[in-house]
Amino acid sequence: VFSKDLKHDVSEEIDKANKDILKRGSKKRGAKVVRHKLVKNRLDVEIISDETVRAHDGFIRLKKFLAEQIGRKYKVGIKEAKVDEYKIMFKLDHEVKKKISIPFAESVKIDKRQCVLRLKDLDLKMLMENYVDRMIKLIQEKSIDYGGKAEHWKLIWQSKKKKIAWTRDPSLEMEKANWIIRGKGRGQWFFSIPATQIIQAMVQVVEKELLEALRFKEVIIPKMVTWDTWIKSGHAKGIYPEIYYVATPKTRDPDFWEEICDYFKITREVPIEKIKEKIDGPIGGITYAQCPPFWDSVEKKILAKDSIPLKVFDRSGTSMRYESGGIHGIERVDEFHRIEIIWIDTPEGVEKIRQDLVSRFRYIFDRVLDLEWRMADVTPWFLAQEGKKDGPEGNIGTIDFEGYLPYKGKREGDAWLEFQNVSNNGPKYPEAFSVKGQKDILWSGCSGIGLERWLAVFIAQKGMDPENWPSRFKRIVGKLEKPFKWV
Ligand code: SER
Ligand code: ZN
Repeated sequence: VFSKDLKHDVSEEIDKANKDILKRGSKKRGAKVVRHKLVKNRLDVEIISDETVRAHDGFIRLKKFLAEQIGRKYKVGIKEAKVDEYKIMFKLDHEVKKKISIPFAESVKIDKRQCVLRLKDLDLKMLMENYVDRMIKLIQEKSIDYGGKAEHWKLIWQSKKKKIAWTRDPSLEMEKANWIIRGKGRGQWFFSIPATQIIQAMVQVVEKELLEALRFKEVIIPKMVTWDTWIKSGHAKGIYPEIYYVATPKTRDPDFWEEICDYFKITREVPIEKIKEKIDGPIGGITYAQCPPFWDSVEKKILAKDSIPLKVFDRSGTSMRYESGGIHGIERVDEFHRIEIIWIDTPEGVEKIRQDLVSRFRYIFDRVLDLEWRMADVTPWFLAQEGKKDGPEGNIGTIDFEGYLPYKGKREGDAWLEFQNVSNNGPKYPEAFSVKGQKDILWSGCSGIGLERWLAVFIAQKGMDPENWPSRFKRIVGKLEKPFKWV
């Protein structure tokens, strides 16, 4: 729509555009205006294109071209530009049976691998910011997911069979003995004296045999994570069903909240619906993985040569995930304690540190805790948390450490619990947070030590009687204290 009626025909300009800018950069046909009609100040065009110059790119190029050509000659501007209808045909990489729908699409029709995506009333923002290519990519991704592909999992190594003390459910038994007490929140536990004593003994082992041995230094990473961080880390692509959301008051003016206080004083009930009207956000969520907010601290920085390799760990607070329902005891919890180890180095250095960590973990599980465990190559955690299922690429990938849970049945089955991981995250994080070295290319790695899970695996295999524990670990724990009891 032009700012004034046009007195002349624009066929000449359209021809020029078809021959030049609409083909530019294309080795095939590019885009082409196949029909146009001018009525007063309104020009309707129909563009057909191939994938080398997408129709919406063509549209934007044409708009700019006409604004220059016609604007200069006749002193009119373009008042408005929009697309009424956009039909995109493309081939899917995979055949899908299930219906696919995505936001902004009028319809998505799939016949075998042929897909027709229809969009209506697209504004300039949608066209210029490339929503269209992202929509095509999203449909491709969904066609893979809906194809029922399983996450990558490949056994790398398995320990010897170990002597098993019992075949009871560790959470159930510890709960009966008051070692652990169910918290009020979903998937949340109170660890009483003996359970905490064992966890702290495990932490001591990790400190001495791993963190100090490999010279990792402690830091304290924030535990409230903003959208900005999760946009960069990729979590914004997938973790919504698992977030513990954080909201803030619209104001901290007591007058604004007086009604809520009064309401509670009279009813003794917290008026959740009324509170919802008085809060903003969610502004983000509670830590899901510890390392993404670590990267905020070095974002857009050039790391000094003597800070590389950078080796740190954090154990300063809990992480939270809204887990799938059902009873899992301490094996799958919503609120959990994890030591996360993070390192940044050259690509070779990152891989070397990963291998150092693996060998220290092996030492701990074999020599100190005497566990029956195995290692598997799995979908890298940073892809899994984005909702993807791909396998590793070269050195980039995640190794899961899984412990055997005798109470769950045979070793051949599903009786294994992932209790920790070690990853080479490749260039993903330095790129996402624009972190550079003075000269070197930087990669990074991380490793999460899930303390609830260490406890679950240990008690599941060794039982609750220290008599059956490996002597080295028994010494580190010391005399096991009693839990408090009630009558
Ligand atoms: N960041 C890694 C994960 O979430 C290690 O904790 O698995
Ligand atoms: Zn991590």
